[in-house]
Amino acid sequence: MATNRTFTMIKPEAVANGDMGKIIDMIIEAGFKIKAMKLTRLTPERAGEFYEVHKERPFYGELVEYMSSGPIVAAVLEKENAVADFRKLIGATDPSEAEEGTIRKRFAKSKAENAVHGSDSDENAEIESNFHFSADEIVG
Ligand code: CMP
Repeated sequence: MATNRTFTMIKPEAVANGDMGKIIDMIIEAGFKIKAMKLTRLTPERAGEFYEVHKERPFYGELVEYMSSGPIVAAVLEKENAVADFRKLIGATDPSEAEEGTIRKRFAKSKAENAVHGSDSDENAEIESNFHFSADEIVG
């Protein structure tokens, strides 16, 4: 996949709170094009697989339980410098450290319930996009 793409999930508490429209609007306003999007739900097994890199972390069990607790929105986004620009738009993992105007500052509840996920590298953006979408679900 081109390096101008990133992957995001709008997490269960943000979907449950009815914030997904506002979050998608912020993403589009920031210049990202949506190349794939779906409302879906992760089983605990799939959530565990997605976050496997955090398996040894103390919060892994809580993270898997939370990410499988309700529907999420998964999406592939495109923009020049997508990974870095999207991480800037979402803000720090801990919302108390997130800058004003970021998605997490506005919608996240805590470090665990932090409203959105954003890929941390081009390589992971591709792996995470392929985890959720088949090639024909991502528009060219
Ligand atoms: P995300 O960007 O999806 O990537 C890993 C996730 O782990 C992160 O967002 C948080 O939801 C979660 N996370 C990271 N650190 C902590 C922590 N200290 N306590 C609980 N959850 C965490």
